Amino acid sequence: MEDLDGKVGVVTGAASGIGRSLATAFAAEGVRLVLADIEAEPLEEVASELRSGGADVFAVTADVSVASDVERIGTAADDVYGALHLACNNAGVGGGGLSWQVDLETWRWVLGVNLFGVIHGIHSFVPRIIASGGGHVVNTASMAGLTSNPGMGPYNASKHAVVTISESLALELAMTNPEVGVTVLCPGWVRTQINRSDRNRPDRAGGPGGGLGGDAGSLSRMLDRLIESGLDPDVVAALVVDAVRNRRFAILTHPDWSESVRRRTDALLEGELAEFRLPGTLTD
Ligand SMILES: NC(=O)c1ccc[n+]([C@@H]2O[C@H](COP(=O)([O-])OP(=O)(O)OC[C@H]3O[C@@H](n4cnc5c(N)ncnc54)[C@H](O)[C@@H]3O)[C@@H](O)[C@H]2O)c1
Repeated sequence: MEDLDGKVGVVTGAASGIGRSLATAFAAEGVRLVLADIEAEPLEEVASELRSGGADVFAVTADVSVASDVERIGTAADDVYGALHLACNNAGVGGGGLSWQVDLETWRWVLGVNLFGVIHGIHSFVPRIIASGGGHVVNTASMAGLTSNPGMGPYNASKHAVVTISESLALELAMTNPEVGVTVLCPGWVRTQINRSDRNRPDRAGGPGGGLGGDAGSLSRMLDRLIESGLDPDVVAALVVDAVRNRRFAILTHPDWSESVRRRTDALLEGELAEFRLPGTLTD
């Protein structure tokens, strides 16, 4: 979608991090935006900031793990702007631990937001984009969707699923509606609040802060340092704008991490388990 000016887009998880940067970058290109997030106040702050810079944005508080909430985002695009051309299914949360110890509600929470959030977005937004004459879908996965590091079972599962769903979607659209492009975003560490995902942990999964304890505290501090040393989310958003313009399918923000994807694939093809090396640390 080369010409972005005047188009209509949706960004989920727009109140913080990569979503906030995506909203800012697409607004700067003249895209009119429905911004969605589960956090009402930070969402309203982002919306006001963009409006004061001259952008046309509409904010919807929504939980992407709930299908009817995502449908409300689609309806807002219809009602406010009368069309939809761009969907960034970006909202996500981090959560993990040892796979057999992670409680089932945490599995459900992480898969609900990261996987079903994208599924709900595809279900609600793609038909609208087709009806509007075409456009682009951006699904935020992760390098965790291409590797399988320990301690991140629910997150890895959700992100692997987002990668494969994006591939299927792109092939299906190429066959049926080639006017709609697809991009899957696979970032490495990015400087955001992802390691504060527990702030949105639902009560059924232990409530805010309910996921930390024991060794998880020191793991979280290590992740804090890695995320703090990560890419500026504005840099990631610029890559996304470019991929939408040029219809590029995959964005890997950290090309130096590709070796770990190759190692995993080679090991699997040999019937082996890839040795664990955490990307972005001295061991990689
Ligand atoms: N930061 C990284 O290093 C990194 C790396 C790879 C992938 N990602 C992915 O990038 C995406 C954006 O995360 P981020 O890093 O900007 O983190 P972030 O925490 O800064 O932003 C995530 C946003 O999603 C919102 N959100 C959480 N649960 C929600 C729900 N149920 N419904 C609607 N909104 C919800 C949060 O309120 C927040 O505004 C996620 O999908 C994440 O998995 C991040």
